[in-house]
Amino acid sequence: MIRLDKLLANRTTWSRSEVKNLLRQGAVQVDGIPERDGARKVDPDAQQITCQGKPLPGGAHLYYIVNKPQGFICATEDRTHRIVTELLPPELRTKGLFPAGRLDADSTGMVLLTDDGDLAHRMLAPKSHVPKFYLIGLARKWEDGYADALAAGITLSDGTVCLPAEAQPLDVPGNDAVICLHEGRYHQVKRMMAALGNHVESLHRVAIGGLILPPDLPSGGCLEVLNKDVENLLKSQKIAVVVSRILTNFSSYSINAGR
Ligand code: URA
Repeated sequence: MIRLDKLLANRTTWSRSEVKNLLRQGAVQVDGIPERDGARKVDPDAQQITCQGKPLPGGAHLYYIVNKPQGFICATEDRTHRIVTELLPPELRTKGLFPAGRLDADSTGMVLLTDDGDLAHRMLAPKSHVPKFYLIGLARKWEDGYADALAAGITLSDGTVCLPAEAQPLDVPGNDAVICLHEGRYHQVKRMMAALGNHVESLHRVAIGGLILPPDLPSGGCLEVLNKDVENLLKSQKIAVVVSRILTNFSSYSINAGR
């Protein structure tokens, strides 16, 4: 249950005072009856809430996936860069949404936007080890020893020892590979590959947990994650499944990666 005024402020582009006015005017209805009390607790999953005749988007929480292009940053505000929430159509850009996790400005691919702090915590908490899969393009060829070194736990230049990671090259010999991390440190993939003497030229997140970025979602595109798929974000999947999906759709993924 959540306060009606809080829900409205989170789910719409109106400010708190505009929400107050709308309530006062009787423009908000709960199950068809005008409700003027913003403090009333409602259950957005079970009750129908409309404002000016239009239903509020989503159930208890909102979940969207965006295919982040280069140049956007994973934040809710920034003075100099464009932010990932701008990738949503204006009517969906409600104030409660934030990116669950980060991708560097020059990285591309899957970012979850949600207002569900609990799910974000379960997805990102160091102890949860939810896998994140990245398609990387390297400056130099993938080498035989990389997968074993990553599986043993790479030591970064500052002495940090990373958790074991899985990796699989897409072609041998070749420069593209998929890496699966179970943690999220600053510039982690780039720093891991630098520790192995290579350099990441492009990085595209292709999957979070058990959910793969749909290959037909264009760069800059967004889609709603349906409730039945939300729990998949917390699940695991085999790297071989992700690799085979990429290989079948390679041109879409490499176009998205900006190469
Ligand atoms: N690792 C990186 O180096 N960059 C990202 O954006 C994500 C993971």
